[in-house]
Amino acid sequence: MNISKFVAPEIIFGRGSLSQLGESVLRIGASKVFLVSDADVIKAGWVDLAVHYLKSAGLETEIFSSLTTNPKDCEVSEGALRYQASGCDGIVAVGGGSPTDVAKAIAILATNGGILQEYEGINKIRRPLPPMVIAPTTAGAGSEVSQFTIIVDTARKLKMSIISKSLVPDIAIVDPELVQTMDVKLAAATGLDAFTHGIESYVSLAATPLTDIHALKAIQLVSRNLRLAVADRNDMEANTNMSMASLTAGLAFSNAILGATHAMTHQVDGLIDQHHGETNASILPHVMEFNLSACPERFRDIAVAMGEDVTGLPVMEAAMRSVDAVRRLISDIGLAKGLGEIGLTEEFIPLLAENAVKDACLVTNPRPASREDIANIFRKCI
Ligand SMILES: [Fe+2]
Repeated sequence: MNISKFVAPEIIFGRGSLSQLGESVLRIGASKVFLVSDADVIKAGWVDLAVHYLKSAGLETEIFSSLTTNPKDCEVSEGALRYQASGCDGIVAVGGGSPTDVAKAIAILATNGGILQEYEGINKIRRPLPPMVIAPTTAGAGSEVSQFTIIVDTARKLKMSIISKSLVPDIAIVDPELVQTMDVKLAAATGLDAFTHGIESYVSLAATPLTDIHALKAIQLVSRNLRLAVADRNDMEANTNMSMASLTAGLAFSNAILGATHAMTHQVDGLIDQHHGETNASILPHVMEFNLSACPERFRDIAVAMGEDVTGLPVMEAAMRSVDAVRRLISDIGLAKGLGEIGLTEEFIPLLAENAVKDACLVTNPRPASREDIANIFRKCI
């Protein structure tokens, strides 16, 4: 018996769609919303616009924005206390992956209590969460549609993966206007994250025809649009296509899960506070090389989706073209640096590898990877 399922929220997509926020919140039955965001998004003006739409619908708002680059357990605890004291009955996130993941984690504690570590892993959440509407301001994380939240455990210095259908928001409002204010570096890093989601979900052991459609579309859209979006931040066609890429990649990885790149990235992100997408860029090509022999036909498909001409090539050679194309993309958007350049040294590798093999994302990697395998890949990434 081969059973699969596919979960997704209601999705509202298009330029100007943030205007649907007030009506969306009313439809999920909330009267006072806890709005999670961060300082950069507030500075860009998107929180003011969101509050305007919420007020127009007669909704009260409490803003929580005490966040840093990689979302941390202590920030979630503080947010959960604020939520409980606020009298709010719904949660809205306006922001990138960090505010969104924090909003989801606050939702867990709001109705389930305890500490976040109790929910690490798959399907540990027991009680329904408060209703949620998410409006992403980056094109990469895909958290607006996913059943994931990834939070740094500050004591263990690693990222915890919490995976549950309860974490799929009620409504995702994907407005490409909002990604326009990302700077070049953030556009490159978040876009590369979406790309990594597409690749890892396409070669995942849990991939299905439903996730394949979304994964391949994401790979194709990123390949055609990320360079353009990085070169000209005002290119709204490229920004819109990157928003769609992030969305489709999110649908793919939410349902097919990820692989060794994310299992490894989560450990580095917990140790060094750089953008998750930049870490992916350092690790992804090496993991692809490791995985090639497990499913060369799938990597050949990725090469084709990236526009490579593989006509007449033996399958392994065609598959290798995907790795070459990924390296060129990473270099073109300015993210090609080794983990050594961000301060990772050999002495960290044993602990990073030990934690990576426990990460839920490794379960669906197409090739079994031991602690020693992961350590060897880390060495290549330095
Ligand atoms: Fe990611």
